[in-house]
Amino acid sequence: MKILFIVFTILVVVATVVVSSKVCHQDSDCGDAPYALCQSRINILKGLAYDYDRNLLIFAGHIDRTLNLVVASVSVDGSKDKGSTSPLSLKVEYPITTDIPIGSEFSTTIGLQGYSNSLKLAYIINSQRLSSAVGPYFPNNNSVNFIWYPRGYKLATYFDDQQQQSVSEHTLYSCTFGIWRTDFIPTQSFEENDSNHVRLLRLDPDNQYNPKCEFITRANENLYIVQYDFGESGNDFQSVVSVIDRKCVDCPPDSLHEIGRFPFEITGIVVYNNHIYLGAKAEFPTNSNHSGVFEISKTIDGKSKVLQLTQVNVIGLTLGSKGNLYYSTTNSFIYNIDLNSKDKKESIIYSPEKSGGSCSCANYFTGSDCKKCDNGVVQWTKGIPECIKLLPNGRPSKCNENSQCGLEPFALCMDSKCFCREGFSGNKCEICSGTITWDELQFPTCNH
Ligand SMILES: *[C@@H]1O[C@H](CO)[C@@H](O)[C@H](O)[C@H]1NC(C)=O
Ligand SMILES: *[C@@H]1O[C@H](CO)[C@@H](O)[C@H](O)[C@H]1NC(C)=O
Ligand SMILES: *[C@@H]1O[C@H](CO)[C@@H](O)[C@H](O)[C@H]1NC(C)=O
Repeated sequence: MKILFIVFTILVVVATVVVSSKVCHQDSDCGDAPYALCQSRINILKGLAYDYDRNLLIFAGHIDRTLNLVVASVSVDGSKDKGSTSPLSLKVEYPITTDIPIGSEFSTTIGLQGYSNSLKLAYIINSQRLSSAVGPYFPNNNSVNFIWYPRGYKLATYFDDQQQQSVSEHTLYSCTFGIWRTDFIPTQSFEENDSNHVRLLRLDPDNQYNPKCEFITRANENLYIVQYDFGESGNDFQSVVSVIDRKCVDCPPDSLHEIGRFPFEITGIVVYNNHIYLGAKAEFPTNSNHSGVFEISKTIDGKSKVLQLTQVNVIGLTLGSKGNLYYSTTNSFIYNIDLNSKDKKESIIYSPEKSGGSCSCANYFTGSDCKKCDNGVVQWTKGIPECIKLLPNGRPSKCNENSQCGLEPFALCMDSKCFCREGFSGNKCEICSGTITWDELQFPTCNH
């Protein structure tokens, strides 16, 4: 009896995996388009991370057409990786549902700040009205805990909690108003005076010319940081790379040693085999040679040698295992450079045109044919249907047009929410127990 049960369970699991791991390239591979969609194209936001245990790249982006914001991944199979020429398939890890696109609570995701390997949590960056906010997104309960509000200052983080490290420490290095070492991975806000939160160096927040931190990484005993310096005039932009001993505790400012200045926007840093690799993005087309991946190495006479490896706009850069450098670009490609190969061999990991994806129902539809919309109403945007849940009052929970909210002109769609015009009630806003007056724009008010 027990054996039979186990055999049965294994069969079920295998069957489920086969169905859900089917790779699609277009909607017609998924069944009844556009109710069933192939999620293969994504507009990648800034930030790229590597999951050492699952061997995949993590990033955030908007799925093409449905515009759903998601955390997605591409699996980097170590054996196929080297020299592979065919792009890999996109997998949606989970949707990010906490964005508030309009109104005074406005908060919208603009990138991936980092990724904790020990907790398997993505830390997202939100743009809010007065500042940015950064914190872990919890897919189990679809919530986000914003921990940092760096305001005018930037926040740089390095999650030093990969399994493969010899030291089994879970450390977060961060830089905002100062360079910090936190000997735990924070998932909620904590006191600055926590005994496991040590300041290596103070960056003077009162000095307006003091460059702000953008990126931080560790290699051996050193921390490397990237700062943007706009110069005293404000138009003399340079990215500055500096190094500091990670054992520093409240060290003097000159413990941070500048090792290079670059006249372009650095968008990521990793260190491998005594070489520094920088991602760069050109702000203006005229500076197009200032985009790509650069390798900085020390020559025998102590000078820095700069080698440009590629020439595309980089928005995310991360180091995988075995010397693989991965980077994402403004046009949503992901590439790999094999840093151990003699000619720094490059391959495409993800291509929005050529990569496959997985099938999914259009938003909130269910059923095997993706056409079930229980307790909902179907709304169309740019040829894509969406199943919108109905509220207890019978009105849809989201709208684009007044007509979706009830009878016009008594019903109103404002900030994507349904309302009745002043004084009206009823499921279709059609009830007025008083007298109706019309203003000069021919909008009604119900006077009681
Ligand atoms: C969601 O789950 C995480 C971790 O399980 C927890 O720390 C957090 O407080 C939860 N948030 C809410 C709103 O329940
Ligand atoms: C840390 O700061 C908080 C509030 O600023 C205070 O309540 C707490 O006592 C402080 N803890 C220590 C160990 O100083
Ligand atoms: C990039 O362009 C600048 C000016 O346009 C030029 O001085 C510089 O040599 C170029 N660098 C490379 C690596 O081509």
